[in-house]
Amino acid sequence: MILCGDFFYRGRITDCCVKIENGIIVDVKKDMKGKRVKGVVMPAGIDVHVHFRDFRESYKETIESGSLSALYGGVCLVVDQPNTDPPILDAETYFRRMETAGKKTYVDYSLNLGLTEDNVDEIDEILRIVEEKHYVPAIGEVFLKGKMKVGYDVLKKARCKVEKLITVHAEENDDERSEVRAVEKCLRIGKFHFCHISTAEALTLIYNSNSTSEVTPHHLIFSNRDIKYKVNPPLRDGKVRVELVKRFWMADILASDHAPHTIEEKMDGAPGFPGVETLYPMFFYMVKKGYVKMRDLVEKFVENPAKIFGFKRYGEIDIGKYANFAVFDPKMEKPIKARDLHSKVNWTIYENLMAIFPRDVYIRGEKVLEDRELLIDRGFGNVL
Ligand code: NCD
Ligand code: ZN
Repeated sequence: MILCGDFFYRGRITDCCVKIENGIIVDVKKDMKGKRVKGVVMPAGIDVHVHFRDFRESYKETIESGSLSALYGGVCLVVDQPNTDPPILDAETYFRRMETAGKKTYVDYSLNLGLTEDNVDEIDEILRIVEEKHYVPAIGEVFLKGKMKVGYDVLKKARCKVEKLITVHAEENDDERSEVRAVEKCLRIGKFHFCHISTAEALTLIYNSNSTSEVTPHHLIFSNRDIKYKVNPPLRDGKVRVELVKRFWMADILASDHAPHTIEEKMDGAPGFPGVETLYPMFFYMVKKGYVKMRDLVEKFVENPAKIFGFKRYGEIDIGKYANFAVFDPKMEKPIKARDLHSKVNWTIYENLMAIFPRDVYIRGEKVLEDRELLIDRGFGNVL
């Protein structure tokens, strides 16, 4: 199959043709005869921080509903987090989760392995067993507070035992200083990937180290005055938010931290916002408006996620990569409405913000969304 159109190719939009065989791009050229795709063909997104719940929390989200939401948002691959109920702390639970995912996921699916005090001594062995069957993107997100909290000693032990990427939720408590302090302490231990960094100071520390950083749309777009619902790390005050926006260029990865809870749970203070479906559409809109550079968006939401988490056939539109595309029509801008989204929780903090949702989505060369209509069944996605 050959598709021609305006592709995001090697850093810019280029009118060219892409030849696809068995889902993989085998040639990119100016002149080939092929089917013309209308719109801007972007590489599909990779969201390295989602909480798809399922198991005993299926009432708030499932792999099925979460991955459908991802697909409608132009995301072709997710990294799910292990703080499920029960959590993913051993090979057996990992395999059980992947079996469910294999039957239910719409997009490609991968899963982090959890770390606690109780499994740290066997973490290398668990990782070895799991990796006989699956590709583990990372150990994490490792919590320094909350139900699955570990101490720095445990983190250090894990860092010494395995080579694998470790992602850290760097916060001991809620204040800004706590994030900076936690990052400093972790950097003294070794190299990590830091989830959802909310302050410019922590971001700068990470930028000047060999570790990597992630930021979320909610910390960039909202301050604690705009949204009263809880999230970890908390939304900061306006000044801190603006400083973070100014240093957006320093961040390696943009990820949603899609963390759905029911409205009732939110009223009770449960932390987290859904966001996997709205990230790419909101940022593509911001690209159109000139607020964000297209190159930065692709770097942080496609290229770096693939590089940092080791997804070899993902991350760009080029020879040897999967033909994973999100096709945007820049004219299709509209306000976000929770009722149009596909997460089980039918609310969003982005209600009425403008966005451009992808019109078509391709996964491994196959059209999975056409004119916003779903063309595939659950289970279409690969588990890694
Ligand atoms: C996360 C969740 O709900 O799983 N929530 C969040 O606010 N980011 C867990 C957490 O990081 O506390
Ligand atoms: Zn988190």
